[in-house]
Amino acid sequence: MWLYGIFIVIAMVERCLSKLDLYVDSDDVKQLLGVSSQLWYVHNGTVNKYALGYVVVVPPQVDTLTFRWQALEGWTMPYNLSVQIANREALSVPVLNISEQGLVPTQLSAWTVRLICTGKLTTQVDVSITLEVPMTTSLSELTTLTILRKKICLRVCRCFADSEIGANGISVEVVEARHSTTVVYITLGCLAVFLVVVAALATFNHIRNNKARPNTRRRALENNRSSVSGRTQNLPNNQRGGAVASGGKNSQSSLSELRRSPQPTNTTTATTTTTTGSPEPQYTDPRQGDVSAKLTGLRVPHETLQLLEIEQEGTFGRVYHALYQPPDKPHPTSVTVKTVTESSSEVQRSVLLSEGIMLAGLAHDQLLTVIGAVVTPPESPPRIIFPRSSQGNLKRFLQGCHTLVTKEVVSVGLQVLQALSYLHSRLLLHKDVATRNCVVDDNLAVKLTDCALARDLYPADYHCLGDNENRPIKWLALESLTHKVFTPAADVWSWGVLLWEVMTLGQQPYGEIDPFEISAVLRQGVRLAQPINCPDELFQAMTFCWTAAPRERPSVDELIMYLTNFQQHLDRYV
Ligand SMILES: *[C@@H]1O[C@H](CO)[C@@H](O)[C@H](O)[C@H]1NC(C)=O
Repeated sequence: MWLYGIFIVIAMVERCLSKLDLYVDSDDVKQLLGVSSQLWYVHNGTVNKYALGYVVVVPPQVDTLTFRWQALEGWTMPYNLSVQIANREALSVPVLNISEQGLVPTQLSAWTVRLICTGKLTTQVDVSITLEVPMTTSLSELTTLTILRKKICLRVCRCFADSEIGANGISVEVVEARHSTTVVYITLGCLAVFLVVVAALATFNHIRNNKARPNTRRRALENNRSSVSGRTQNLPNNQRGGAVASGGKNSQSSLSELRRSPQPTNTTTATTTTTTGSPEPQYTDPRQGDVSAKLTGLRVPHETLQLLEIEQEGTFGRVYHALYQPPDKPHPTSVTVKTVTESSSEVQRSVLLSEGIMLAGLAHDQLLTVIGAVVTPPESPPRIIFPRSSQGNLKRFLQGCHTLVTKEVVSVGLQVLQALSYLHSRLLLHKDVATRNCVVDDNLAVKLTDCALARDLYPADYHCLGDNENRPIKWLALESLTHKVFTPAADVWSWGVLLWEVMTLGQQPYGEIDPFEISAVLRQGVRLAQPINCPDELFQAMTFCWTAAPRERPSVDELIMYLTNFQQHLDRYV
């Protein structure tokens, strides 16, 4: 009998010792996962193994993790706390705001771990937070709880100086980080984590689902949540469904946002993608057509051209800085020449010609059109002459880490739209709108170019999907990708990707997604996520361009209207 009494006393002590609550509060979960619900690690002394088993991604803009805990029923308990990180170069030593050893307070309290990136590397750093507490049989036997995080760190370009904040609270900060492919917030692994965590939460009956509001901050966070991972392929379809929902919601709200801007009044029929009632205009591909007819008037004698240095080279393609002096001009001018090597094939030469002169005969300030072509002697490779833009290729310019404030990003976007508006009004489709096919000068004047040599100079941007056709997969609209359908709306989609490139300083879109997976992933509703420091207004314009149904995308003229309004709005404050 007395033995039984002692047993009960011990049992009571044990029970009391085992009572702990440890969780992340809903506001903090929202920052990480985009939903408002508490994430319980230990509830009333019971360990949530599901929650502990999953790695929560900490997006770049979140640097403080907050946990809440409490020893229950008035019994305190000792703890040991430590934080381990995998990469000291990318992440500074984490800072706890409580001591590493102590007693778990009996009132509900918060503690934090600060994760500060060094800015030296763009990478993800594994972080494990280890808490040891006596929860089982005795004070001396400790239970180890390991909470896992993956912190996304961005390399910060030191060439950037200031930032501007609009007086209305719109952040128009300088794009200060060159994000690498690891932070293309597009993959689904984290979504899987998120779903499993939600499932774990459900088992604990602690989900308090707030009604989803289409608010922009939440949207940004949701996108960040689906950061980094390489586990896209293994997700079952029902889990991908979650991404569809969020993608769909995004485009809906941005759509209404964009349509709220005044509609263009004098849209030409050529530039509107659809006009109910009137017949669809027939667009053509400027690459087609009789090359020799187009060459008439472009041929210049080879002595007029003097190649200086190679500016860019691929396996067979070459871009030269050159001097060009037409017979009737007293002085040579600086030009850019696209050509191929002596060892290039016939096919490579003829593709260079047809693509290099695809914009011949067109004249617009935002288009770079060929001014001449050297096609003699016939056995040498053709040389195609273009006016020179002082800063050269836009993609390389961006990757060189140039400062672009929001106003400048908008200006670049608008200039490309003007080129597209002009092309579409001539019933031409570009079909390869991307920063690699633009040039830029010192005054940030941008011109859309042909796509000659782009496959060779930017091999990472083009892929064959088993059909021998090397296409810019990650810039293509869904219908172009799956059915090879091209319309002005497909150029609009690519323009959205271009704007994303400008915002991320020339990052690779969907960096971690296998090109073969792209169409499946897009069909599920997944899209590129909001780049850091990308104002919501710009991101909405992008996501609107990536609406699955071509007819629901904005027209080029609507986008011009929208960005012009936004630019005026910025001018008022900056
Ligand atoms: C640690 O930070 C949390 C959250 O800011 C705060 O509530 C708490 O009081 C801090 N703890 C200490 C010991 O400073």
